[in-house]
Amino acid sequence: MLPTVAAVRERLSGEPSVAFVPTMGNLHEGHLELVRLAARRAPCVVASIFVNRLQFAPHEDFDRYPRTFQEDCARLEELGVAAVFAPDEPELYPSPQEVLVEPPPLGNILEGEHRPGFFRGVATVVLKLFNIVQPRYAVFGKKDYQQLLVVREMVRQLNLPIEIVAGETCRDSDGLALSSRNKYLNSAERREAPRLYSTLVWLKKELESGNQDYRGLEKAARSNLDKSGWSVDYVALQQQATLGLAQQGDRALVALGAARLGATRLIDNVEVFLGT
Ligand code: PAJ
Repeated sequence: MLPTVAAVRERLSGEPSVAFVPTMGNLHEGHLELVRLAARRAPCVVASIFVNRLQFAPHEDFDRYPRTFQEDCARLEELGVAAVFAPDEPELYPSPQEVLVEPPPLGNILEGEHRPGFFRGVATVVLKLFNIVQPRYAVFGKKDYQQLLVVREMVRQLNLPIEIVAGETCRDSDGLALSSRNKYLNSAERREAPRLYSTLVWLKKELESGNQDYRGLEKAARSNLDKSGWSVDYVALQQQATLGLAQQGDRALVALGAARLGATRLIDNVEVFLGT
């Protein structure tokens, strides 16, 4: 484990090709799949573990975010990562972070609308981590679809020499996307939780069978969750590449949802490819 920026720079100096997996720890199979994907890109895989206060609003779960550092390190070691960068807050933010990365407009909708400042915090810490690790590849999960696109756009617009690699969403056997926040669910909520995914899959099937009433489908999906006790932030059908509103004739779509079950906010998405 490398706790300092200087130690990371020293360990990685001379490494020709690094594949990087940034995380906030509390690792599950989804994170580990990203590490395996990284290992297929480059012989030297680096992971980071840092719970980034900058991307949490004051009322959010920064303080109770699950931290399982020893177990995380053991699992990463088993997978053969070359280094785990795990700075503390003063190491990564030695002084107030006044220089911030303003995310592109696609970061203003959906998550950006419901979690103001979230993508600014993500983009800022990801750019800092990129500058420290200087990877050739960086792997992000499709589970956080909008985050993946914000990072891709940042890399493109800031000319970073990094290829962003996307990993598929890992799910439990009942469809629930793995997430550190699933730990907050009580047993009744855990039984209910797969409905978010099954609702998005229902949307996908409707689209595949020719239903083009996008706004009507969004409404029906939302009310399916509402009536099962969810508090829905959004269910939205968007274009995959830009997250622009899905229009008739679009072929590569993504159905995204965010909703609260009790105190726990879950997000998920399903890609939809409409036939030629
Ligand atoms: P975290 O939530 O720990 O996620 C780290 C990476 O794992 C992200 O790229 C996320 O999309 C991916 N991931 C999470 N659940 C997944 C699943 N079920 N299947 C596949 N991949 C999954 O996302 C963050 O941390 C932070 O915002 C971070 C990018 C580290 C910046 O602080």
